[in-house]
Amino acid sequence: MRRAVATWLDERCGWRTLKRVLLDRKIPKGVGWLYTLGSISLFCFLLQVVTGILLAMNYAATPDQAYLSVKYVTEEIPMGAFLRGLHKWGASAMVVFATLHMLRVYFMGAFKYPREMTWIVGLAIWLLILGLGFTGYLLPWDQKGYWATVVGTKIAEQAPFLGEEIATLLRGGAQVGAVTLTRFYAIHLLLLPACLVIGLLVHLFLVIWHGISGPPDRERR
Ligand code: HEM
Repeated sequence: MRRAVATWLDERCGWRTLKRVLLDRKIPKGVGWLYTLGSISLFCFLLQVVTGILLAMNYAATPDQAYLSVKYVTEEIPMGAFLRGLHKWGASAMVVFATLHMLRVYFMGAFKYPREMTWIVGLAIWLLILGLGFTGYLLPWDQKGYWATVVGTKIAEQAPFLGEEIATLLRGGAQVGAVTLTRFYAIHLLLLPACLVIGLLVHLFLVIWHGISGPPDRERR
């Protein structure tokens, strides 16, 4: 019965082919734990999506409600502190693992021909991850987040040529305030995740398309 349902679905959606292409891939000899850093980063991303959706269900992005809504999640909702902790530590874990993955790729020379585009898309992904960390930090609307954003946008202001325009665009004015919170909320929940999903789809497509490179000494043999 199960097999019949699986075949019925396969003939209509081709999921067996999808499984073969995505999961039953040949990998080169000699790959080890260092090659799991990309998948760990992917796991962190999925964790951030799930915990972020649950947090967003109880969050209010206004200066008078933001702090209280985060306090409510932490103190009133069952397992709310755990949920918040997962999202907070998950964010740091994602930065750490994506950076370690990037270093693995760099030191093993896996960015070379024909994987330059995988590397370039990876760099964009890394910047998007940092952007998610920066915009998320303001959302609890506490002293730490507020002053970190003041400092961060002041740094952006120092950039040559377009610095002031970029900082004003981010803040929605000359000061960090209500508009900044709304902007960071929209950037954190909509803009950056949408760009990241597109970037990751392209990245993973390229990884599957080229196949994973072997360790450098084995490539030479
Ligand atoms: C959330 C972020 C990221 C995810 C989920 C991700 C995912 C993956 C996965 C699953 C692989 C295949 C397995 C592996 O080599 O670990 C891979 C390979 C690769 N990634 Fe990433 N990656 C991310 C960030 C980056 C960054 C920041 C860079 C570089 C700037 C990068 C460059 C590459 C390259 C060049 C490969 C091919 C490696 C090879 O063929 O040996 N990735 N990525």
